[in-house]
Amino acid sequence: MKGSRRKWIIKTAASGLGFSLLPQLGIPQIKRGSRNEHAYSANRFTSELMQRPIPSSGEKIPVVGLGTWIQFDVGNAKEEKDPLREVLKEMYKKGGKVIDSSPMYGRSERVVGELTQEMDQPDHFFYATKVWTSGREAGIRQMRESMQKMRRKTMDLMQVHNLVDYQTHLKTLETWKKESLVRYSGVTHYTASSHSQLENIVTSGLVDFIQVNYSMVDRNAEKRLLPAAKDHGVAVIINRPYAQGNLFGKVKNKPLPQWCEEVDIHSWGQFFLKYLLGNEAVTCVIPGTSNPKHLVDNMGAGMGKLPDDQTRVKMLHVLEKL
Ligand SMILES: NC(=O)c1ccc[n+]([C@@H]2O[C@H](COP(=O)([O-])OP(=O)(O)OC[C@H]3O[C@@H](n4cnc5c(N)ncnc54)[C@H](OP(=O)(O)O)[C@@H]3O)[C@@H](O)[C@H]2O)c1
Repeated sequence: MKGSRRKWIIKTAASGLGFSLLPQLGIPQIKRGSRNEHAYSANRFTSELMQRPIPSSGEKIPVVGLGTWIQFDVGNAKEEKDPLREVLKEMYKKGGKVIDSSPMYGRSERVVGELTQEMDQPDHFFYATKVWTSGREAGIRQMRESMQKMRRKTMDLMQVHNLVDYQTHLKTLETWKKESLVRYSGVTHYTASSHSQLENIVTSGLVDFIQVNYSMVDRNAEKRLLPAAKDHGVAVIINRPYAQGNLFGKVKNKPLPQWCEEVDIHSWGQFFLKYLLGNEAVTCVIPGTSNPKHLVDNMGAGMGKLPDDQTRVKMLHVLEKL
């Protein structure tokens, strides 16, 4: 971390926010009249996708992105690729930017590179991928291949996938940042058992981003990891925000509570994502989809009002009672 700049950004962000935590839920409490209260309601009447700053630089990114794990691992058949073209087109139209991939995701990196390159503004997007191997040379080789597949001269975010040999790769990434081959570094994992290790990395100031599992039915990250990321100025990307789609099974054929309209929640998808975005430590959620309608639905979660802490508690009760 570039010490003084990050500290300045954190200090500035923290002042006047009235930020404390509901200990049992890890939910930020917003004081009436505070600047944060405005942050929660500022987008109330707009259809613009909300953005949040990457603490290490202050650069803003949209709060809803796109995961590509299974969905973009497709062959050349038109019927497989056309929906993905639509997904990216809709994402562009809505102002979405963050696309997350990995060499672990089969053909996904190549498909992302090919389809974004076909578009008018491939540089509109914020490209994130990962390194998933052991050893310095193997890591360098894999990262170079990923950049070639995704057709990037500079990768916006390079993350160490599932913490595999992260000490080695983070050293390489420090050098790569200086050479402008990558802009930001990060580490990822998808299980609660990794959270204490991620917390140590967050507090050590080694990364700009972490990417972790967090959903309404998988809330371990709320306890310590997200507050630590907030305190130490580390951006947070959320993977598996729908618990791999399992959340939709829980609400099948169930109507949304009527009060959801008051917080601009128009679908169960938005209900699940807005709960996560209500936590200010979250920078961006990356639901995976190959369905353009779902993409539009997901982007909608980054628009309008966000739930405050009381509403988030109410949301948890709704889900528990189903
Ligand atoms: N260790 C790691 O670094 C790691 C681990 C896991 C995941 N990830 C990243 O996180 C991303 C997201 O995780 P995930 O894909 O496993 O799980 P997820 O985002 O929680 O759920 C994806 C599922 O939700 C469905 N879905 C998406 N939007 C929907 C909507 N609006 N309405 C109804 N269904 C919807 C998708 O189906 P449709 O295609 O039909 O929309 C898909 O079945 C991955 O793609 C990957 O980029 C990283």
